[in-house]
Amino acid sequence: MVKGPIGVFDSGYGGLTVLREIKSQLPGYDYVYLGDNARAPYGSRSFETIYQYTLQCVEWFFKQGCPLVILACNTASAKALRSIQQLNLPLIDPSKRVLGVIRPTSEIIGHYTYTNKVGVLGTAGTVQSLSYPIEIEKFFPSVQVFQQACPMWVPLVENNEYNSPGADYFIKKYLDQLLDQSNEIDTVLLACTHYPLLIDKIRAYLRPAISIVSQGDIVAKSLVDYLERHPEIESKCNKQGNSVFFTTDSADDFNQKATIFYGNSIQSEHLVL
Ligand code: DGL
Repeated sequence: MVKGPIGVFDSGYGGLTVLREIKSQLPGYDYVYLGDNARAPYGSRSFETIYQYTLQCVEWFFKQGCPLVILACNTASAKALRSIQQLNLPLIDPSKRVLGVIRPTSEIIGHYTYTNKVGVLGTAGTVQSLSYPIEIEKFFPSVQVFQQACPMWVPLVENNEYNSPGADYFIKKYLDQLLDQSNEIDTVLLACTHYPLLIDKIRAYLRPAISIVSQGDIVAKSLVDYLERHPEIESKCNKQGNSVFFTTDSADDFNQKATIFYGNSIQSEHLVL
């Protein structure tokens, strides 16, 4: 049987926060990470553009032999995953799988809230897609979802300004806009791979009783469960503990910034799609 690595995709660096958790829970597998940094951020782009970019990257993963690709990016999961699963996969290779981050998060977010009022912070694309309200409603019909787009947060993180005093202005601004929608929100979901880097500042502006939920651990646990339930996919995943990293932009830049997201230093390769 031909085996391959698990593919992990993000528009840029943010998915490294997810890969980091996946690797800590499933260290034995091989992984290939692709950050489409040259075309990031995806968050403010149109449906069609995000779909085309994501599809192109998924096709590349399949050429690398990946039996399974995780779209670690919320924006790509919101705007491209369903079309890829329903329209493209049957034609490309029905034995391959592409999974996203929205469903695993929606499946459990209701367990965090006592007031049944959940705040979702994401990119404009994720928020406009309504993917979270739609998915959460399927699993927790009594949970009310309040969304807030935070368009300045990804640029703050990407430009390493997330610890600067200027970051506080935009962090407070979007949190205020979210909490203005309901003062009963007791759970705030960081529905963007970049936001875990802002967690200390976000916490400083929220009442201590509000739970802040990051996705890395949730997505990793869901993958553990998925591989247990799908031996036909699991058996096609290579297990030598290797990880390789690709970026569509400068590898030097990627290596430099990636440590913030991944925790360890990495050596990436530049990829021309
Ligand atoms: N990684 C994306 C997400 O999780 C955010 C970055 C972008 O806008 O490209 O939504």
